Amino acid sequence: MSPPAPLPVGVLVSGTGTNLQALLDSVHGHEAEIVAVASSRVGAPALERAAARGVPTAVFTRGDYASRKARDEALADWLAERHVALVVLAGFMDLLGEPFLDRFPDAVINVHPSLLPAFPGLHAIEQALEYGVKVFGVSVHFVDAGLDTGPVILQRPVSLPSAGDPDEVLAALRPLEHTLLPEAVRLFARGALSRDPANPRRVLVERAGQLDDSAVDASERPGQVRDRAAAAGGAAGTVRDPAEG
Ligand code: GRF
Repeated sequence: MSPPAPLPVGVLVSGTGTNLQALLDSVHGHEAEIVAVASSRVGAPALERAAARGVPTAVFTRGDYASRKARDEALADWLAERHVALVVLAGFMDLLGEPFLDRFPDAVINVHPSLLPAFPGLHAIEQALEYGVKVFGVSVHFVDAGLDTGPVILQRPVSLPSAGDPDEVLAALRPLEHTLLPEAVRLFARGALSRDPANPRRVLVERAGQLDDSAVDASERPGQVRDRAAAAGGAAGTVRDPAEG
């Protein structure tokens, strides 16, 4: 049997585009085909990354439209014309309203540099540092009309008990973002994401035929954290799981 056709993906950006690059370097041309990249900002470096791979780009600034609704509709039309089946927000610094989300039901995802629901919105890393957390992390979630409030698909924590500098935290989170976002796209393309009928906020992830309904990504289960710490000489029973907060 031939493999399924790649999933047509549209990526929305506003800035540097390292997450876009991670998608271009991993899933693009395999499970997914990035068929459109749209920016909310003129001159976003992410646009160059797309152009370098021959992906069509466009800019939809809020100021070019009479209302956010008009901008949302124009953006949705542009993506729909390219037959986009999944919209990925990769550093897109603008809210999308119902006129956009209704066009791609359950098919808009975002990557955010915190363990949601902690620290939604702008400056998540600075918010976390200000709060004084010891465990940081990354979430990939479905997008709803709220500010980073949609159901969580994947999360991965990283323990940084003495972090004090946003750049240090960002450097630790970047590789997680660049792994988790392509992984979520792969799972979506494979049809491996579903909702718990008893609680539609819970996204069920099917891996190798098994439902993995843990909130933490499989490669960083609490037990593994404990095992690793024990192997490194940590006293059993004294190591706290990052996922326990
Ligand atoms: C990332 O930290 C992402 O989590 C947040 O915006 C940033 C985008 O970075 N939503 P880049 O443009 O992909 O480099």
